[in-house]
Amino acid sequence: MPKPTIAVIGGTGAEGSGLALRWAVAGYPVVIGSRSAEKATATANELNVALPAGGTPLYGATNAEAAAAGEVVVLSVPYDAQADMIAQIADHCEGKTFINVSAPLKPPKVSVAWHPPGGSAALEAQAQLGEKVNVIAAFQNISANHLKDLSWQADCDVLVTGDHKAAKQTVMELVQATGLFGVDAGALSNSSVVEGLTAVLVGINIRHKIKGTGFRITGIARE
Ligand SMILES: NC(=O)c1ccc[n+]([C@@H]2O[C@H](COP(=O)([O-])OP(=O)(O)OC[C@H]3O[C@@H](n4cnc5c(N)ncnc54)[C@H](OP(=O)(O)O)[C@@H]3O)[C@@H](O)[C@H]2O)c1
Repeated sequence: MPKPTIAVIGGTGAEGSGLALRWAVAGYPVVIGSRSAEKATATANELNVALPAGGTPLYGATNAEAAAAGEVVVLSVPYDAQADMIAQIADHCEGKTFINVSAPLKPPKVSVAWHPPGGSAALEAQAQLGEKVNVIAAFQNISANHLKDLSWQADCDVLVTGDHKAAKQTVMELVQATGLFGVDAGALSNSSVVEGLTAVLVGINIRHKIKGTGFRITGIARE
């Protein structure tokens, strides 16, 4: 089976570019999306410099072009930009797996869990996109600090929530491709908890003066 093309909307940012690099390393075709095609191309070129032999070179495009090209669409923009961005790319997402990585934080209390009016960013994405798009939430607890460091020995897990069985399986495989361990954390409604846990991690980072703490699920069989 050929690997699906992954479009990373907002892929010029810290989180999206790190995920994009890891998928490219694993051989997935990846298109970086941006509001600026030039900026997207510049980021893709930078990531290609870091790409080890055997990886699939990335390329850049506008967010809409990227969403159209992607078989899997990953939304990696700040929560405040989510609804506008979805409105711009929704026509290109029908029938696709859509990964929401947003972890909404409410300044100034970014270490206190805050839930958007729709319950979670991922639930709001699903409501906006409608039933023809398979929204899965993942990576909200994975710090961008680690993702571009390909030597990082990943010791934290990715909680994956969603209501679409096949799409969730696709995302579990994409988590594995990043070198992380995915755990099926249930229905998309549980994304409210997972997104809120990011604020907990931010608080731990602040109190311990470190970056990039994460969660690990114990008691589960690992390969
Ligand atoms: N950073 C982390 O450690 C981390 C960890 C877990 C989850 N997340 C989640 O991942 C998502 C991305 O985080 P990030 O740190 O990568 O964010 P970011 O660097 O601030 O933004 C990502 C990209 O979004 C685009 N963007 C910014 N403002 C926008 C706007 N108003 N409208 C449209 N596009 C806009 C920008 O791309 P262009 O300028 O190229 O268009 C930017 O490069 C967020 O939802 C965050 O909650 C982040």
